[in-house]
Amino acid sequence: MKILTTGAAGFIGFHLSTLLLENSIQVIGLDNLNDYYDPELKKARLEILNKYDNFTFHKVDLKAKPAVDNIFEAYKPTHVINLAAQAGVRYSIENPYAYVDSNLTGFMNILDFFYRNMMV
Ligand SMILES: NC(=O)c1ccc[n+]([C@@H]2O[C@H](COP(=O)([O-])OP(=O)(O)OC[C@H]3O[C@@H](n4cnc5c(N)ncnc54)[C@H](O)[C@@H]3O)[C@@H](O)[C@H]2O)c1
Repeated sequence: MKILTTGAAGFIGFHLSTLLLENSIQVIGLDNLNDYYDPELKKARLEILNKYDNFTFHKVDLKAKPAVDNIFEAYKPTHVINLAAQAGVRYSIENPYAYVDSNLTGFMNILDFFYRNMMV
């Protein structure tokens, strides 16, 4: 198994990635390290993940389709767990496009890659 976890530096993505790495699974982490909350916390999580030989990280925004395609083509993951998302209800009023970019466009970019490459 080769698992790509999006949002690997986030709360759930970090803990899931750690669990997978502890089980000797190859993990490719992807995150844009956005500043919705302190990015230093995300960097500190990455420092922990980077200690595992079976972990690779790429700072990529899911809305950037060519970059997402490149990662998927390079690693050909067997599974993708999509935990990169814009969470929070109040912030959606202030910055609705952050939700569209990450939760809709970003997710669509993942689905489109697998559909076009018949990996589903
Ligand atoms: N934390 C909870 O209690 C909880 C409960 C239920 C569901 N969830 C869901 O789990 C998912 C992850 O939640 P979380 O608490 O880990 O949030 P989080 O904000 O800690 O993690 C999300 C990560 O995704 C990254 N990210 C956001 N948009 C991105 C983009 N466009 N490209 C690349 N990376 C991007 C962020 O930088 C962040 O590190 C969300 O869908 C959330 O709704 C969380």
